[in-house]
Amino acid sequence: MSKKILVTGGLGFIGSHTVVELQNEGFEAVIVDNLSNSSEKVLDGIFAITGKRPIFEKFDLRDKQKVQNFFEKHKDVAGVIHFAASKAVNESVEEPLLYYENNLGVLTYILQELVKKDKSNFIFSSSCTVYGQADEMPITENAPVKPAESPYGNTKQVGEEVIKDTCKVNAQLAAIALRYFNPIGAHPSAEIGELPIGVPQNLVPYITQTGAGLREQLSVFGDDYPTTDGTCIRDYIHVVDLAKAHVAAMKRLVEGKNDSNYEVFNLGTGKGSSVLEVIKSFEKVSGAKLNYKIAPRREGDVIQAYADTKKANNILGWKAQSTLDEAMASAWTWEKKIRNI
Ligand code: UFG
Repeated sequence: MSKKILVTGGLGFIGSHTVVELQNEGFEAVIVDNLSNSSEKVLDGIFAITGKRPIFEKFDLRDKQKVQNFFEKHKDVAGVIHFAASKAVNESVEEPLLYYENNLGVLTYILQELVKKDKSNFIFSSSCTVYGQADEMPITENAPVKPAESPYGNTKQVGEEVIKDTCKVNAQLAAIALRYFNPIGAHPSAEIGELPIGVPQNLVPYITQTGAGLREQLSVFGDDYPTTDGTCIRDYIHVVDLAKAHVAAMKRLVEGKNDSNYEVFNLGTGKGSSVLEVIKSFEKVSGAKLNYKIAPRREGDVIQAYADTKKANNILGWKAQSTLDEAMASAWTWEKKIRNI
């Protein structure tokens, strides 16, 4: 049976780590990426870790003809892991059509090709953003989906619906939506990691860039939330753990072990950490003090979000292994490497 997996956005942060884990498990990854938020150099990092250079095709998946041509050429693709998407919440508010085209238009092009096949397997990058401010912690997969706060969040909700509706009428298509909590860290080899363009919006790259001297000071957005120390709580998951969950999900589909042809799993550690705890962890693993100040709340932030991971633990047979300190240490090692510190 073919072990060829198309990884869209496979040179990005989560995509590249997943390509490594796929190759480690004997899959053959074929990457499609338009390099809009990544670099071809990532291929060297993947090669350095695995000793294998995946096939790479550079094109924009918004070109429907090219998507069709790809599937014509690679008839033996056994599954698709679809990372390629835009992910900046603020930008999505400014450029909604870009987000709907990139995140939903492309999704329909890929699914249109997959439903032509006798059997196909599809994994979708969803987000805990679909839960909004959930009423109960930890958040199970049965928690209601709340109205999206941004076009980005909406593309994840609607994306799930698009896949679910398509699966309903295409029994030969099997899909899993993975709802990520907060992915952080880098490969322990420091050969691949996160490469945010411009000023990072996310906490951990902002912290490591401040530690590296690229940013002067971190702003902690709000310390008057109803949490133990007043700062927001999130579930920070090491990107290597997250990558391994994709391999577990793909194996489940390829081996036909899925219970239905559309399934949803939370991917988190199950442990919530406050912004101040993340800063403390950084200071511990780096041995340096971080320059930060308390700033006003950021619009759209939920107070707390952490995963109930039982479904992924029991059904996917996967569990996050790394601690927050380990993830922060890997993020810091990576930052130092790319800044030559
Ligand atoms: N934070 C700061 N200062 C910063 C950046 C972030 O205090 O400079 C705080 C935020 O207020 C929040 C926490 O750090 O409390 C985490 O913020 P991130 O931006 O790292 O992550 P979010 O939880 O806001 O966002 C993540 C993903 C989004 C996704 C969202 C769903 O980045 O793509 O989860 O909740 F939509």
